[in-house]
Amino acid sequence: MSENRYQYNPSALVQYKQGESNYFVISDAVFESLPVPTAYTELFNRFHVHWVIAGEACKSMQRAQEIWQWLDSVNATRFDTLIIIGGGTTTDLGAFVASTYKRGLNFILIPTTLLGMVDAAIGGKNGINFNGLKNSIGTFTEPSKIAIDSTWLKTLPKREVLNGWMELSKHALVGDELLWKELRNLTPHDSDINWDKLVKAGSSIKRKIIESDFRETGERKILNFGHTIGHALESVAALSKTPLDHGFAVGVGMIVSLQWSASRADDASNKGALCDAARQLQKWLVNEGNGDPWHWSTSQNPSELWSFMLRDKKNTSNAVLDIPLVRIGEAHWDCPLEKLDFETVWGAAF
Ligand SMILES: NC(=O)c1ccc[n+]([C@@H]2O[C@H](COP(=O)([O-])OP(=O)(O)OC[C@H]3O[C@@H](n4cnc5c(N)ncnc54)[C@H](O)[C@@H]3O)[C@@H](O)[C@H]2O)c1
Repeated sequence: MSENRYQYNPSALVQYKQGESNYFVISDAVFESLPVPTAYTELFNRFHVHWVIAGEACKSMQRAQEIWQWLDSVNATRFDTLIIIGGGTTTDLGAFVASTYKRGLNFILIPTTLLGMVDAAIGGKNGINFNGLKNSIGTFTEPSKIAIDSTWLKTLPKREVLNGWMELSKHALVGDELLWKELRNLTPHDSDINWDKLVKAGSSIKRKIIESDFRETGERKILNFGHTIGHALESVAALSKTPLDHGFAVGVGMIVSLQWSASRADDASNKGALCDAARQLQKWLVNEGNGDPWHWSTSQNPSELWSFMLRDKKNTSNAVLDIPLVRIGEAHWDCPLEKLDFETVWGAAF
């Protein structure tokens, strides 16, 4: 994977060599009214733009079809380039469309949420939801460039910063103890956070992992830390029409997974560090005025969650294959988690 695929603070990205290829833009519609970092206003002024109302609902066949229709209407060819600007839902949808239209055209991702910068835009996965299942249709296709610029974060609502903070924490917990030590002394809304540094560190952890396992046959699975439980919570929330953000659900999932990891650790100081990490995540989740999703999540019945965990696409048999930490900064994958153990650690976690 080439190093120059990634550009940090990429104002040069917008100085295109016109003539080689036409550019088309897909953007989160929030930037029709929000201030856009100056370097990018030119993109909206110079090229055809298709606006997407972001959110999980945009990751649908209907929205994908609308964009394919739009690309036809502006006479896009397979030699043209799509520039996709937005959070994880916009980049997942846009990259899916780009990777399938005319068997795939070039695309550039410009993530605008913290979650997008450290996670969704990195790693070449895209997708839409289908038949009630998250990301069940999609491809593995790398963009030609990923332009990561933390200036976009200036307008990001607090709640979205917290969601991204959870994925950033996940990367530190599975792959970088030093980054975790730095994060645990911060809160996501500190005014003096060096976002450039954190975003670069967070995205690099994922980059390194996917370099060794692009198609998720092994190590890449550790990026799902906290997600089996998080996805089960999201499924129960969706059924009961309870609003629950992906990052928040993953945060709760990581707390329970840390408890499970601590229960497997034989060394007392390691056990202590894992439990301490769970408390730190809880502090961030609860301190940000998130009483409702916290109470809702922690009062769920673990047996009901278990039935959703069994359906997780990472499982290969009847067991739930999940990811425990061996210690902070190191994770194992494909470890069987028994129902009884899950219920016990769920009870101990809150
Ligand atoms: N492909 C992958 O590898 C991968 C990895 C992790 C997550 N994801 C996906 O990412 C999605 C979640 O992404 P997300 O959290 O970025 O959600 P999102 O795209 O819905 O963005 C969250 C909200 O922030 C708004 N927003 C975006 N940028 C903004 C900015 N700069 N200023 C103000 N508002 C802004 C959006 O309009 C939206 O309301 C999920 O669908 C998840 O499945 C994909």
